[in-house]
Amino acid sequence: MTDTSIIDGLAHAAALREKTRERAKAFLEKYDRKPRLDVIIVGNHPASRSYVTTKAKQAHEVGIEGNLIELAETISARKLEGVIDRLNAFPQVDGILVQLPLPDHLNSASVLNRISPAKDVDGFHPLNAGGLFTATKLDMKAMLVPCTPLGCLMMLRSTLGDMTGKTAVVVGRSNIVGKPMAQLLAYENTTVTVAHSRTADLPAVCRAADILVVAIGKPQTVRGDWIKPGAVVIDVGINRVPSGQGKSRLVGDVATEEALGIAGAITPVPGGVGPMTVACLLHNTLVAAELRVSPR
Ligand code: GUN
Repeated sequence: MTDTSIIDGLAHAAALREKTRERAKAFLEKYDRKPRLDVIIVGNHPASRSYVTTKAKQAHEVGIEGNLIELAETISARKLEGVIDRLNAFPQVDGILVQLPLPDHLNSASVLNRISPAKDVDGFHPLNAGGLFTATKLDMKAMLVPCTPLGCLMMLRSTLGDMTGKTAVVVGRSNIVGKPMAQLLAYENTTVTVAHSRTADLPAVCRAADILVVAIGKPQTVRGDWIKPGAVVIDVGINRVPSGQGKSRLVGDVATEEALGIAGAITPVPGGVGPMTVACLLHNTLVAAELRVSPR
């Protein structure tokens, strides 16, 4: 039996927000304006709505001007691109985020590509994504890295310190999490495997991991006996499942109860990766703001 420690995402997020607050204060004193983040939401997706409200509120709390732009579900691609173009051209806007998923009639890739790379605080624009893959190391002051994997990396660094030589497995190969996460882990000198739904003997692949990052969007898929004793497990999943009597609860992609006593450390759901993602968005807004006023 291992005494599994719980990685407190709320505490990590609070500490990162504190650093961002100090940077925002220094930015205001130096440039006589607050850094500004504009968050666009299209339509009425309930979970997305709650996420963007949290993003704008937390921006305010650290001294970033957070502006929420709510657009109708039926907006045309041309009109949405017009909104993005205006924000791209507006000097006081440092960060632009278009909340995903978008309604089916809109092409996410072309909408995201419209955002100026300098203001792309999600790090999803091909120039920023390409920059992550062609760098020689991670430079947190000069790069806009997707928020979720960045938050995972920060928690891994604080849990493990030097990761050199460790075996890392990332389950999931999305542009938002899996692909950038694998690249970040490569910069930490780990040996990375990207596994996915078609991986042969996924449990065995997971069992080899000293560091296991799970981002597949399927509730409690990774079982206790998939985890190497002492491994550090980062659970990126946020799945709402029925909990009886018409109620629901949030669970991750890992069967957390089964992992306790086996993993060395694990992020809980909720209270793990989620809060760090929002804190990293605020961090990225400061990176974007600082780079815009003084490019490196
Ligand atoms: N929807 C779920 N995660 C994300 C994210 O990291 N960024 C954006 N823009 N939308 C999301």
